[in-house]
Amino acid sequence: MTGFPDGFLWGAATSAYQIEGSLDADGRGRSIWEDFAARPGAIEGGGDAAVACDSYRRWPEDLELLERMNLNAYRFSLAWSRIVPDGTGRIETRGLDHYDRIVDALLARGITPVVTLNHWDMPSALMADGGWAARSTVDAFAEYAEAAARRLGDRVPWWITQNEPWIIQLLGYQLGLHAPGVRDLRAAVSAGHHVLLGHGAAVDVMRAHTSGRIGAAPNLLPCVPASDDPADIAATRGSDGYVNRWFLEPLLGGGYPADMREHWERAIGGGLDGIIRDGDEARIAGRSDFLAINYYTQRVMKAAEVGPDRPFPWQVVSDPAAARTDEGTEIVPEALTGLLLRLHREYPGVPLMITENGAIYGDSPSHDGQVHDVRRIRYLRAHLEAIRVAIAQGAPVTGYLHWSLMDNFEWALGYRPRFGMVYVDYRTGERILKDSALHYAEIARAGGIVDWDETRPVGRVVDSLGAFG
Ligand code: FCB
Repeated sequence: MTGFPDGFLWGAATSAYQIEGSLDADGRGRSIWEDFAARPGAIEGGGDAAVACDSYRRWPEDLELLERMNLNAYRFSLAWSRIVPDGTGRIETRGLDHYDRIVDALLARGITPVVTLNHWDMPSALMADGGWAARSTVDAFAEYAEAAARRLGDRVPWWITQNEPWIIQLLGYQLGLHAPGVRDLRAAVSAGHHVLLGHGAAVDVMRAHTSGRIGAAPNLLPCVPASDDPADIAATRGSDGYVNRWFLEPLLGGGYPADMREHWERAIGGGLDGIIRDGDEARIAGRSDFLAINYYTQRVMKAAEVGPDRPFPWQVVSDPAAARTDEGTEIVPEALTGLLLRLHREYPGVPLMITENGAIYGDSPSHDGQVHDVRRIRYLRAHLEAIRVAIAQGAPVTGYLHWSLMDNFEWALGYRPRFGMVYVDYRTGERILKDSALHYAEIARAGGIVDWDETRPVGRVVDSLGAFG
């Protein structure tokens, strides 16, 4: 008894723009991330994704990494602009051919593909109308989803339509820190809504081409009050509405939550009826076969005054006691248990899958050429334990996909943060399995959390398993 069900997916995740490079290959169209990266100062260190991990060409090596890690699942995304280069109309078959080969190669190795459609690299052409702020983008997304499902739907058992709707809305359209770099509250709430409508429209056209399960991947952040002051408790509920319920409720419940709708209406100074039209909620609801969850941390909430840079009456404060990653993100595995149990309670029967979870640790190769990222091993084990506890209490968790398989282009932060279990030398493209990858390989092989002695050299143990096993 490992505490994880048979058939549990042990995997890792990446996204197209963050790893592929080869931005002009095989008829790929320009995406909004090239436009954004070209803005001076938009990307830390000035990097762009022209080469990244060179995975468009080196993908067979990436699949070998998965195999060496004993993983039975791989989450990757299709580059939207490789498939519909002009945003609508012409479908580029060379783009589809590429992913077709990857899907076949994964299946041949016994690795289950988990395919994301929109991991943020929207074709630039769609910005002519406003990108996700425009309703017409919903139809454009459905065209893309249909082309993808028509080609790959017979073999892909798990589909994720949208990656992190809240982050698209917040960083892309509210704060302007991600592509397309818009700063406008009305555009932000419109974008979030259209992303969800896009999920519904995509599912409707995909069904004819796939019996795979289709869901969306919100990033969920459990919110906890900074104190038991009723104002902080109200702030916590508000923040939960803003970050979590605004997406969960339309997808899995009965539509947008009224309390958060009021917050939005106050923030933009007008009603949302022009954005969320009659019938829209019915086009989003009831279309999720599972819930994909990206989980990184929690938010500790305090009441605050609304102001020019604060549209809602709350703020995030830091927990001085929390352990942190190298980027300062609070490490709170027990909040993941709570989150999974809440989802199980509020949306009973909906299968759950962790589709991202991981941490920035800057470890690089040591004197022996290996990467001893002990802290990532601790992080991994703590989060798997949190999932095991939730499963023991009934949460239907079907898989764990670590972010990320390998170090990659971390959006506006460029190449500095390293999220990978595999180290990438960006000058040569060389990949080195970090100790965390080797340890995860043992876990995946055992189908559960194996014993671990922090002082034991991880790499050598796996090598000997390889020799005898
Ligand atoms: C998530 C994104 C993913 C990666 C991780 C660190 O928000 O989905 O692409 O950037 O964070």
